Amino acid sequence: MNKKIEGIILAGGTGSRLYPLTRVTNKHLLPVYNKLMIFYPLETLKTLGIKDICIVSGGEHIADFIRLLGSGSEFGVKFTYKVQDEPKGIAHALLQAEGLVKNDEKVVAVLGDNIFEKVEAPSEAFSDNNAYIYIKEVEDPERFGVVRFNKKNEIIGITEKPKEPPSKFAVTGMYIYPNDVFGFIKTLKPSQRGELEITDVNNWYLKQGRLKAITIDGFWSDAGTFESLLNATLFAAKNKA
Ligand code: DAU
Repeated sequence: MNKKIEGIILAGGTGSRLYPLTRVTNKHLLPVYNKLMIFYPLETLKTLGIKDICIVSGGEHIADFIRLLGSGSEFGVKFTYKVQDEPKGIAHALLQAEGLVKNDEKVVAVLGDNIFEKVEAPSEAFSDNNAYIYIKEVEDPERFGVVRFNKKNEIIGITEKPKEPPSKFAVTGMYIYPNDVFGFIKTLKPSQRGELEITDVNNWYLKQGRLKAITIDGFWSDAGTFESLLNATLFAAKNKA
């Protein structure tokens, strides 16, 4: 990787699906077996060779992340911290890191509650003008952004939490974007659930023929519900995280 790539861990939101565990603490500071949740996306970014990492979280919890992670020297990375004043969605959280990414640079965003066993990126993903999503076949696609394919197996759309999923392929919580993602997010309107949706961002790249999808192997789960947190914990325990 020649260029500087900014990694971003999105660790805001309300964690409402894990209430009351999240009544006084941030979801990403809950344990997943023997590590706090935030360390899993951190490891994902480190695996890709990313060393400049921005943590985005709400004002009520950002100090906890600073206390836990510090400058990053302990982990061989450099952290920057950004506050998302209100939990207005994943795309809104990503926008908070705008100033850290230069015109010709790309950004790798990971959701703070996503646990990947294995992620890889082709080298051009760090330098070309395309966006990349990571997809995975799951049994409960209705909980996620879901991909629709045409007969040639090409992606023709992504729908957020569809009642009738067009396929079993979920869009996982890792994305690679060129710098123009920030300009587009600024034009977005909130969805019915009042959030700036990352699925709208991905559909924008798709419409321009600039969206690449990588199918991931190995375990993947979010850890944002009691059931998925348990699954992630069992996986981590089995693999002696
Ligand atoms: O896990 C993958 C799924 O994540 C995708 O398939 C969906 O397309 C995507 O919308 C997202 O769905 P969720 O509804 O599960 O996202 P959630 O609201 O749980 O937010 C995921 C993470 O994003 C959360 O751990 C922290 C971060 N976040 C979320 C919001 C709403 C923020 O940093 N700020 C926010 O305002």
